[in-house]
Amino acid sequence: MTEPYVASKITDRVYWVGAIDWALRDFHGYATERGTTYNAYLVLADKITLVDTVRAPFRKEMMSRIASVIDPARIDYIISNHSEMDHSGCLPEVIDHVKPEKVFATENGLKALKAHFHRDLDITVVRDGQTVSLGSVPATFIETRMLHWPDSMFTYLPEDRLLFSQDAFGMHLASTQRFDDEIDDAILEYEAAKYYANILLPFSAAAKIALEKASKLDIAVIAPDHGPVWRTNLKRIVDFYARWTAHKPANKALIIYDTMWGSTEAMAKAIEDGLISEGVQVRSMRLRENHRSNVATEYLDAGAIIVGSPTLNGGMFPTVAENLSYLKGLRRKNLIGAVFGSYGWTGDAVGQIKEILTAMRVELVAEPINVLYVPEEQALMDCRDLGTLVARKLNERISSAGNSGA
Ligand code: FEO
Repeated sequence: MTEPYVASKITDRVYWVGAIDWALRDFHGYATERGTTYNAYLVLADKITLVDTVRAPFRKEMMSRIASVIDPARIDYIISNHSEMDHSGCLPEVIDHVKPEKVFATENGLKALKAHFHRDLDITVVRDGQTVSLGSVPATFIETRMLHWPDSMFTYLPEDRLLFSQDAFGMHLASTQRFDDEIDDAILEYEAAKYYANILLPFSAAAKIALEKASKLDIAVIAPDHGPVWRTNLKRIVDFYARWTAHKPANKALIIYDTMWGSTEAMAKAIEDGLISEGVQVRSMRLRENHRSNVATEYLDAGAIIVGSPTLNGGMFPTVAENLSYLKGLRRKNLIGAVFGSYGWTGDAVGQIKEILTAMRVELVAEPINVLYVPEEQALMDCRDLGTLVARKLNERISSAGNSGA
């Protein structure tokens, strides 16, 4: 063994040659408490092919893993399924080093790579459904535009029944294990949900189309660009994606709020109790203590969102404004909601929240509750009743969706 890093065998001819980023805690604003992996794959066909690369600082790790299998100079083809920098950051240096015969990308991939690197890259543009020969082995390209960038595509190896799915079905999870069946199910489910919520949720229509295209293929292995390779629980992750792309609400309410002197928090607690009394699961998140990407994870399958804020300097508390701005961009559908807060002299925050939730197409079940300074018993009872009302509406929605088979 002459290389410090080695490849992991995925199938007889496919190797994982990516990098593990244990230290990453912020992926363009997404809190990555468990780090991540940047997955690249080497296909030992007659035409030796590298599928995606890694973030620039991890190039040596990837090249070393490749060199543990073959001399990198033997790489004939590179496939760029996705041009975001975590998968293409070292592509120009790799091209210079291995001098591949061809680099494949979509038309939009070509545009994105040129706009990132501002140099002449000799890219062979491929179309949706096109099959190229990697020597003896065919590879089919499946365009997945806007999942989640305009350039994105999958690559399918029919003979290996393997789908390289770029970001789809991925998660930010650094691990020494390369396969789904080696990792705890609860961690997989949470991190896959978090990834979908924060990266793919706004592009659910594109994800649905990609799922339909993938459903026509015979797939035994899904190899994404982050996290483990799916070789055992494929049905589980595909079923999750079917639910998430449909924005299907669970019997769960998400309360997000912040508080200055405890009044808005007391209101949140009373609302929570009303929800619980009607059998609704509650996630209550005080926003100064919860990162927006973790809030988004709970938002993914919530059926109701209830937002509370004190009025500070004539506006929402800053964490509430930040989170609503973020959640709005995720374009979740099928939500009901409510608004509450406390104030001292102007009580503008609740009106501002109402306006944003209305723009997000959240169906508000009641007018906001806005309390002067500190809520008395009656105000807390009103909050409890608000929780009960939201719960009843949510239960009605879920049972009518169930009755209609939706
Ligand atoms: Fe993992 Fe969209 O990059």
